[in-house]
This record gives sequence, C-alpha cells and structure tokens, in this order.
Amino acid sequence: GTPKRTSTGMVTLEIDGTPVSVPAGTSVMRAAELAGNRIPKLCATDSLEPFGSCRLCLVEIEGRRGYPASCTTPAEAGMVVRTQSARLAELRRGVMELYISDHPLDCLTCAANGNCELQDMAGVVGLREVRYGMEGRNHFDSRSAVAPDLSNPYFAYDPAKCIVCNRCVRACEEIQGTFALTISGRGFDSRVAAGTSQPFLESECVSCGACVQACPTATLMEKSVIAMGQAEKSVITTCAYCGVGCSFKAE
Ligand code: FES
Repeated sequence: GTPKRTSTGMVTLEIDGTPVSVPAGTSVMRAAELAGNRIPKLCATDSLEPFGSCRLCLVEIEGRRGYPASCTTPAEAGMVVRTQSARLAELRRGVMELYISDHPLDCLTCAANGNCELQDMAGVVGLREVRYGMEGRNHFDSRSAVAPDLSNPYFAYDPAKCIVCNRCVRACEEIQGTFALTISGRGFDSRVAAGTSQPFLESECVSCGACVQACPTATLMEKSVIAMGQAEKSVITTCAYCGVGCSFKAE
C-alpha cells in the first residue's frame, strides 16, 4: 500500500470551546474568524501582513503567559484559545480608552462618521468612559496640534486623527511597492510622515490611494468624501488594469 500520509498541512485548535481546523501558519485571529468569531482589531486587515501594534486583539492561550496578539500568533495544533473573558474585555476597553484619550472628539462632524473603525471598535469593546486627561496633542483645543496636509489633490491628511496603526505605511510598501510613508516621532508626537516630513505632494507618493483605503480613521481621506460626505450607498469595483488592484467607490 501507499505510505500513510501523516501531515495534511492542517492544524486543529480549540477556540472558545469549538474545534477549528485551519492550514498551518494561519493566524489565531483568522482561525477565529473562520469559526465565526470576530476578534476586535485595528491594525490588522485582510490584505496586509500582520503587525501586532494596536493590542486590541489580545486573547488567552492555555499554557501561555500574558495575552498574545491573535493577529501575529500562528495557530498551532492542540492550542486552546479564549477570545472572550472579563479580563480580555477589560484590557480591550483599556486600550481603546488610551486611543480615545488622544483623539479628537468630533465624531458627529467628522467626515468618517459612520465609516470609522476606531468608532466601531469603541462600540464593540463597550467603551463608556475615558479616565485620562485628554492632554495629548491631538485635541482641537491643543495649540500644538499639527495642521492637516492638503497638498495632495486627491486626499487630505489630518495627523490629529492618526492612531499610528501603520496600515497606510504597510499599504504603501506592500500594495504599491513604494516607500513614501514612515512613522516619525515618539509617544504623543508619533504620526505618519511622507518622506522626511515634507508635504505629500513633494514626497515619493504616487497618489495610488492604497494608504487612503487602508486608513481606519479620517486621517487619510479622499477630498471628494470630505466635500460631499459619505455615499449612502456605494458599489466597490476593483480595477483590473494593473496588478495593484485599486478599488473604486461609486455612488
Ligand atoms: Fe492584532 Fe492590532 S489587530 S495587534
């Protein structure tokens, strides 16, 4: 007979009490999603390499210390994962509290209202209060807030709304293959910068829009959306002209 196949390339783990089989190398986050369980996230997307910076997707894994990020943890055979617990809920609310404590509180007038992942996640984790001082630079009453960069003809960049998830930087590199964006500064001062902090229009940015698509907040936004508001109904088509796969939204 033929040799018995010992590896199928699949691993089976347990997520919230349910066995899930996924190809080896799949992240715990994706395995959970395949099992119908969406873990809160901000820096992970379906198309970019995992980065593990926002710490919203923390889980508990039996036998492991601490709370690993599910987006950067590969699923392993026999793992026992919990994605929901009182402690995880508390940690996720704490993370969101820190984000919101350094973010403008202008949701009702913001161009991304209703289409903002930060806003969505605040709801998902049940954020009810922000105990910190709102003393970061990103509040509208802060005289040190950095002015928006409107130099690009197609999109605006408002650093005050940046949560430094790095999605735009990664989209620029991974989708467009350009290295126009970087993160500059530390702590409250950290933000996305085009090249060596020159305006977008003078940087290596080729206006492909990958960064705008990747942004979870109103930091990078199409000027047309800012001017006309979010479309009530939209159809997204993917351009097949080249390999980039840019998406276009039409009302
Ligand atoms: Fe995993 Fe951000 S989604 S750390």
